[in-house]
Amino acid sequence: MILLRIFLAISFITLLLFIFVTFYNGNCTIKALSRQYDSLCVEEGNVADSLQRVEEPDPTNSSVTDSGAANTTMSPDPLGTQLTLVAPMDKHNFTALPQWKFDDIYRLDPQFKPSECMVSLRNSSNPVYKEKFIPNIQLFLQSDHVNMSEWNRLYHFNNPFGYMGFNHTAIKAAVDTIPKLASTQLLQVPTRAKDGCIRCAVVGTCGILNGSRLGKEIDSSDYVFRVNAAIIAGHEEDVGKRTSVYVHTAHSLIQSLMLHKKRGFKQIPTDKDIKYVLIPEGLRDYNFLESLMKNRKIPSGAYRGQTPRNYYSGHFNESSWNVLPCSYKCINNVRVYGFSTADYRKYPNYYYDTKHTKLVFFANHDYRLEMKTWKEFHDDKFIWMYLGKSE
Ligand SMILES: *[C@@H]1O[C@H](CO)[C@@H](O)[C@H](O)[C@H]1NC(C)=O
Ligand SMILES: *[C@@H]1O[C@H](CO)[C@@H](O)[C@H](O)[C@H]1NC(C)=O
Ligand SMILES: *[C@@H]1O[C@H](CO)[C@@H](O)[C@H](O)[C@H]1NC(C)=O
Ligand SMILES: *[C@@H]1O[C@H](CO)[C@@H](O)[C@H](O)[C@H]1NC(C)=O
Ligand SMILES: *[C@@H]1O[C@H](CO)[C@@H](O)[C@H](O)[C@H]1NC(C)=O
Ligand SMILES: *[C@@H]1O[C@H](CO)[C@@H](O)[C@H](O)[C@H]1NC(C)=O
Ligand SMILES: *[C@@H]1O[C@H](CO)[C@@H](O)[C@H](O)[C@H]1NC(C)=O
Ligand SMILES: *[C@@H]1O[C@H](CO)[C@@H](O)[C@H](O)[C@H]1NC(C)=O
Repeated sequence: MILLRIFLAISFITLLLFIFVTFYNGNCTIKALSRQYDSLCVEEGNVADSLQRVEEPDPTNSSVTDSGAANTTMSPDPLGTQLTLVAPMDKHNFTALPQWKFDDIYRLDPQFKPSECMVSLRNSSNPVYKEKFIPNIQLFLQSDHVNMSEWNRLYHFNNPFGYMGFNHTAIKAAVDTIPKLASTQLLQVPTRAKDGCIRCAVVGTCGILNGSRLGKEIDSSDYVFRVNAAIIAGHEEDVGKRTSVYVHTAHSLIQSLMLHKKRGFKQIPTDKDIKYVLIPEGLRDYNFLESLMKNRKIPSGAYRGQTPRNYYSGHFNESSWNVLPCSYKCINNVRVYGFSTADYRKYPNYYYDTKHTKLVFFANHDYRLEMKTWKEFHDDKFIWMYLGKSE
């Protein structure tokens, strides 16, 4: 079930689906998670990456927490009535992970409706999940989400959890192009689901799926999520055919199409009623989304001259496209296929590899921590994860 690496946190109706997590010393804290996801999934060998991980100081280092706790007082509480932008901040000026009074404030979804599904994180036997899980967090970014007080609050957090160091004019211009969502619920509970639960399969690209014959099982889920170079043709028996949600960053989209074209990844999935979810992991994603919405070439920045709509093969539709800033919610029963497992060395990098290739660990993921966390989620039955044929 899951996506391993991808997830963020979230909430929603009932369990979550993608959890992008943040980890402090190996303990994942789901609340914090919702703010600190670790970039999108992926067995991203493909996303040969330029991303750098945000450096997170060790919070157990008391010399840091005591003295530094760093510049918690660097700016006044931004949630007051300030009508001006908070003073510029730069992540490089912090010697330790700052703790703000408003660390645990989240924008909530006014349309939230509690789920009827009994299988919920709130009902988890794990007290950590139970406590950290916020079912009604606002998942998707839309045009009215950057106002002065929200900007000032989120400016205190590094991207992708916030906007520290970013240019207010540029970000606001981009976010303001995102249409308001008719419904904040990405996926509806299927009418056939008598228990009110949504069953999802999250399919990665790891070699563990080669020869798995899980295609039918995956396709029998209510919704199938895919990421990266999700090559389907020729691999249906192992990975299924359907895609309900394709999750990407600007970078993963562009890189996947470029690097895996010769293996047959000529376009991203375009199933009828598919939803595309963009996770903004940097300024380049905001540039991408603004030009996507304005249907033009990107005027400047990392992807200058590219036309974002071309990446959707004519299937771009505002109403099926969403921006997930930092959290992901979903779903009740999450089954994750094709994400890396502790025995990753046994498998090729991708399920579509024709010869064994080693999994390359890129700097934008803490793969070992991710594997450990997914395994914990699996063991806690919070998700189910495909661990290979023997299990
Ligand atoms: C704690 O942080 C200080 C300052 O960054 C560093 O000099 C020290 O080595 C760290 N101690 C440990 C145990 O990591
Ligand atoms: C906190 O920020 C102030 C400037 O705003 C700076 O002078 C000071 O050195 C910073 N303290 C730490 C511990 O980084
Ligand atoms: C913060 O970082 C910026 C750029 O790295 C630097 O120009 C500025 O002087 C720093 N400010 C403080 C208070 O250290
Ligand atoms: C938790 O489970 C109980 C029954 O097992 C159910 O009555 C309750 O509604 C559930 N709560 C949530 C939030 O799912
Ligand atoms: C900005 O938006 C937040 C969340 O919708 C709202 O609570 C807040 O009052 C707004 N702030 C301003 C200054 O409009
Ligand atoms: C911020 O972005 C705007 C619009 O993109 C630009 O005009 C302005 O120069 C930028 N400001 C800074 C300080 O870079
Ligand atoms: C976009 O999707 C919506 C909802 O699925 C549909 O009603 C609308 O006709 C679509 N627009 C285009 C241009 O395909
Ligand atoms: C994937 O499976 C096919 C068919 O079982 C096999 O021929 C191929 O060698 C496998 N690829 C790798 C890299 O193991």
